[in-house]
Amino acid sequence: MHSFGYRANALLTFAITILAIMCAMASVSDNFNSLSPTSEVQVLNINWFQKKPDGDDEVSLTLNISANLESLFTWNTKQVFVFLAAEYGTPKNALNQVSLWDGIIPSKEHAKFSIHTTNKYRFIDQGSNLRGKNFNLTLHWHVMPKTGKMFADKIVMSGFRLPDAYR
Ligand SMILES: *[C@@H]1O[C@H](CO)[C@@H](O)[C@H](O)[C@H]1NC(C)=O
Ligand SMILES: *[C@@H]1O[C@H](CO)[C@@H](O)[C@H](O)[C@H]1NC(C)=O
Repeated sequence: MHSFGYRANALLTFAITILAIMCAMASVSDNFNSLSPTSEVQVLNINWFQKKPDGDDEVSLTLNISANLESLFTWNTKQVFVFLAAEYGTPKNALNQVSLWDGIIPSKEHAKFSIHTTNKYRFIDQGSNLRGKNFNLTLHWHVMPKTGKMFADKIVMSGFRLPDAYR
């Protein structure tokens, strides 16, 4: 006994409800997925460590950078930019951040990796603060979504230390 208009309206309401439920599920699954990236980095070797003629310290490291960032890849992920930074404090700056390596991860298939490399960018301190220096290696990432806002996060790995003497 319903008029056509009433049925069309009921159908539309039903469709909108289903759409809303699907959106809610997608965004919940998105949130669940982005919870647990992991990373582990080892300093395999100090290749050399010196004071440059201008007085700044420079060190060359061989690193083993492993990470599993698969959970950052959802239906809405375009790509992920990732970089590894050495972070340490000096009397002048509470936080010095030196990027040692970076990369772009184009898809989930490439999001679990282990890379054996020397530092791609130079590890130079603006001074001579690196001898015996404790530092963190922090894996930072920026997720570039297909729609919506970019977001960033990081994993801090602490407990690294440079040698007491140049070599
Ligand atoms: C690099 O680290 C990964 C994960 O900890 C490990 O499986 C692999 O054997 C390491 N590679 C080297 C060259 O140390
Ligand atoms: C290094 O990591 C530790 C532990 O997360 C933190 O307390 C410390 O502030 C970090 N150091 C720097 C220079 O960021």
